[in-house]
Amino acid sequence: MEEGVAAAKILVDAGYDSLNVDAGTYDSWYWNHPPMYFEDGMYREFGRILKQEVDVPIILAGRMDNPELAEESIGTCCDIISYGRPLLADAEIATKIKEGRVDEIRPCLGCHEGCMGRIANATVSCAVNSACGRENIYGLTPALQKKKILVAGGGIAGMETARVCALRGHDVVLCEKSDHLGGNLIPGGVPHFKRYDLKLVDYYKRQMELQGVEVHLNTEVTADTAKSFQADIIVCASGSTPKQMTVNGELPVYTADEVLLGKQDASDQIVIIGGGLVGCETALWLAQQGKKVSVVEILPEILGGHGAMPHMNYYMLTDLLNYHKVDIYTDTKVLKTTSDGVVVETDGTQKVLPAKTVIASIGYIENNMLYEQLKDSEIPVYNIGDSSQVHNIMYAIWNAYELARGL
Ligand SMILES: Cc1cc2nc3c(=O)[nH]c(=O)nc-3n(C[C@H](O)[C@H](O)[C@H](O)COP(=O)(O)O)c2cc1C
Ligand code: SF4
Repeated sequence: MEEGVAAAKILVDAGYDSLNVDAGTYDSWYWNHPPMYFEDGMYREFGRILKQEVDVPIILAGRMDNPELAEESIGTCCDIISYGRPLLADAEIATKIKEGRVDEIRPCLGCHEGCMGRIANATVSCAVNSACGRENIYGLTPALQKKKILVAGGGIAGMETARVCALRGHDVVLCEKSDHLGGNLIPGGVPHFKRYDLKLVDYYKRQMELQGVEVHLNTEVTADTAKSFQADIIVCASGSTPKQMTVNGELPVYTADEVLLGKQDASDQIVIIGGGLVGCETALWLAQQGKKVSVVEILPEILGGHGAMPHMNYYMLTDLLNYHKVDIYTDTKVLKTTSDGVVVETDGTQKVLPAKTVIASIGYIENNMLYEQLKDSEIPVYNIGDSSQVHNIMYAIWNAYELARGL
């Protein structure tokens, strides 16, 4: 802080008219590119200190998209709010705040998948906004011929398809077999640090209303019922389901989804099998509740290793797992469970990791049955999102946008 304040004073003495508060360096990369694991407005304290030290206007970024937080920060922590990523996610954020249309703002997720995460080899874009950075060549045009489009599945891919098709003038019916929209983002958004995933679901729900999409909940599209909708095009977006794992022994094995949704209780001593993103984020969420958590990964590294996901998110998540004392066992194989815990083999030796709850997080499997049944219909049928290939939010949205802009 002292060095930053001294530098700020030198700049102001040299004639700088205003200062933009940021934090971080190349060695603390997640401070300047704050992932979702941060609270909102993480630079406010720095702005507050600097405001007392210099008398030029202070500009402040850093997850300031909540208008109430932004408003209360002006005067105490800054004089001007600036938006970085929220503008990539929704270029109209300022207008929408001004007009009181906050429920129409498409939220930034803090994922970096579409922006900084690909900056080394692609132009900046955004996971939730496919056209970002290439609006002129990848925007939307009205449909040449109005069609009736049936979307089967109310997850993110289905809702993005419905949104784009309706915006372009098509008549869209979206059916969801459960009693709610959101798909895998509902369990995924349970941890506090994933709250923007739930905001994204809210954004899409509002878009369904605004664009006049006819939404049917508790309505499963099947090979038998599909015809009754008399659609010109069917888009299957039936999502994915967690892979189940059987481990011989005395303890039941739950999926991460079951625990996140509160269908199964997690005790205070947990072993998670699978150190991918879902396993590690579930581990962090449980450890933040004061539980003792171990993660067992059969591969040499968790999270797919360095470079498999945006650096800032990778480093912050691994630092947080360490901070919350989550034990990580890589190159480790699960053998069985006993009443004491999970027996694993690592480096040719066996050991017992104490546990009362075992959670498997070993990936998801495509729900592509509907597409397989319908694909040879007389009308065009498409398969998008996780039911086509399991991936992340960005792929679900980009995949859906790419299809829907051409229908
Ligand atoms: C694509 C991208 C490029 C950025 N480039 C810079 C930069 O060159 N210098 C800098 O100080 N911060 C840079 N930042 C960080 C932003 O200035 C800002 O501090 C950060 O994104 C947090 O604010 P936000 O939540 O409004 O995005 C960049 C951020 C993004 C997303
Ligand atoms: S790619 Fe992710 S972090 Fe970057 S602006 Fe879009 S939603 Fe935000």
